[in-house]
Amino acid sequence: MRELDHIEEPSPMSETLENLLNETRQFPPPAEFAAAANVTEGAYAEATQDRLAFWEKQAHRLSWAKEWEQVLDWTNPPFAKWFVGGQLNVAYNCVDRHVEAGRGDKVAIHWEGEPGDTRTITYSDLHRSVCQAANALTDLGVTAGDRVAIYMPMIPEAAVAMLACARIGATHSVVFGGFSADALGGRVNDASAKVVITADGGFRRGKPSGLKAIVDEAAAKSPSIEKVIVVRRTGQDVDWDDSRDLWWHDVVETASAEHTAEAFDAEHPLFILYTSGTTAKPKGILHTTGGYLTQASYTHNAVFDLKPDSDVYWCTADIGWVTGHSYIVYGPLSNGATQVMYEGTPDTPHRGRFWELIQKYKITILYTAPTAIRTFMKWGDDIPAGFDLSSLRLLGSVGEPINPEAWMWYREHIGGDRCPIVDTWWQTETGAIMISPLPGVTAAKPGSAMRPLPGISADVVDDQAQSVPDGGGGYLVLREPWPSMLRTIWGDDERFKETYWSRFQDMYFAGDGAKKDADGDLWLLGRVDDVMLVSGHNISTTEVESALVSHPKVAEAAVVGATDPTTGQAIVAFTIPRGGVDTEGDAGEALIQELRNHVAKTLGPIAKPRQIMLVPELPKTRSGKIMRRLLRDVAENRSLGDVTTLQDSTVMDLISSGLQSGK
Ligand code: WT7
Repeated sequence: MRELDHIEEPSPMSETLENLLNETRQFPPPAEFAAAANVTEGAYAEATQDRLAFWEKQAHRLSWAKEWEQVLDWTNPPFAKWFVGGQLNVAYNCVDRHVEAGRGDKVAIHWEGEPGDTRTITYSDLHRSVCQAANALTDLGVTAGDRVAIYMPMIPEAAVAMLACARIGATHSVVFGGFSADALGGRVNDASAKVVITADGGFRRGKPSGLKAIVDEAAAKSPSIEKVIVVRRTGQDVDWDDSRDLWWHDVVETASAEHTAEAFDAEHPLFILYTSGTTAKPKGILHTTGGYLTQASYTHNAVFDLKPDSDVYWCTADIGWVTGHSYIVYGPLSNGATQVMYEGTPDTPHRGRFWELIQKYKITILYTAPTAIRTFMKWGDDIPAGFDLSSLRLLGSVGEPINPEAWMWYREHIGGDRCPIVDTWWQTETGAIMISPLPGVTAAKPGSAMRPLPGISADVVDDQAQSVPDGGGGYLVLREPWPSMLRTIWGDDERFKETYWSRFQDMYFAGDGAKKDADGDLWLLGRVDDVMLVSGHNISTTEVESALVSHPKVAEAAVVGATDPTTGQAIVAFTIPRGGVDTEGDAGEALIQELRNHVAKTLGPIAKPRQIMLVPELPKTRSGKIMRRLLRDVAENRSLGDVTTLQDSTVMDLISSGLQSGK
């Protein structure tokens, strides 16, 4: 609630909102695009008329070994079962069936390493590798239902590893390659993963990163790990445990390429993906098989208007995030797409790298994040202008609200004023896109994700769970179950109910603020809880606070997300040093750097605070809750809001004076 007040208060957020709602530009699809679009207006009415029949039809996009008996079992909410009794194999659907249909020579992945090395992988190549990896995992004793952790750079083996797990019914848990040993170890332990698949390292910003060393550190505290499979990517020296470590080229590339995919139940666990919550322990979001693949496949076809025979698709996400799962691996491959996969960062070896790739591979569909778009804007229009981007026909955005300025820049400077833009709202929990324009139908507004997709029922409600009228704002909810919804939080059904289904009765609480404009189109406003969204990554305030107080010189810490022009939100920490710690002058500055590095080491570089302020006190309510709203005011250089509920109203003066001396 406190956070929603924040939205309605006179604050930069509501100014943004005012600006957003004054945004009147609209961009209908070009006539030619609309005429050839995969999905037309009629899809909305069709889905409204019979939602389950609509999803049943989409499930027929896939190849099932056994047809379902019931589309949805919702007799025990919030635990959904989709396509009850159906059986299928995800890897068969993403690989084998394309080969069987005579498309084996079609390129599945044009892979580009950061240093410029390339690999071209056809669907037949992919089939061979996935079968080999499936056999190798089976030989190591991995069976259906076991968990396998994947901690890899952006190399094709990452996708192969995921598909191999899916093929044998092992549940994968991909951990982003930028995460620390502690973060990796915590996730491995939570899922008791038996095997970790990793690489010696990967290339980022021109240098080899070390992944194997981090796995070694994590494995020391993760007793469930039996084997570690290591892809040689950079060739750097690595420590080796003969009883545990295996090279990918020894066990996978020598394995038999014959493997028959077994069908699994539609509700068989496909993957766990961890997402930060409001408490320190990340939530293991569980996705299952049939419903997930149905919606990943349908949305990839509908939202990106994919023409498998002519499009070259590129999603710039990392495989460690849900975007990489649904829109690099499962969606595109189930649809038989040709895609580009890139290992590195957009500024290596130069700031035109993305545009160079688009020119080189004649990419037609680009899916990236607002934080990247804002960075490109900052680097200057002349950089993309130096490349031929005329192959592009559709642009997508995901991860956080895209401000109208960035949307317009994307349209003009990347999309040549002709490409429709799809601003896609969804979450790790939703598994696939939920709210987005349909590119051949919707007249998009810069900054709005527009409408729920056909078959999805999203709404905005107030505190009393009442749907707000057009023009109103409140909380984003989902009113009906959807095929790719999370099934639970791994090992914690109670937390699943508590987090998503207890705020409002019979509705999924997404945790985002949203507004309906006069036409009923949706504008997303960011998180309403204490999760920060930094460059499109969810980071919980509590996680960063715990990292800070784990440092011996810190007594207490409070963390807020402050609006940042580039990263969306930036982490700002207020820290009370322990008694006796010198904070005067240079010593204070040195302590601040030490703490920033400490957080980066503990949680990973993504969580490194932009700013740390050393303060004598923190503002707390009488019940002892830290008033983050006030700290956010300070962090965003704004005059303070209501301080009357503070336990000690002089605290804010203390903080302000402390800040001055600390600078
Ligand atoms: C949160 C989910 C979905 C893959 C990447 C993030 C924010 C995501 C949008 C968008 C406004 C967006 C929301 C959401 N978000 N897409 N198009 N417009 N906000 O997945 O890490 O699970 O984060 O990202 O706040 O709740 P995630």
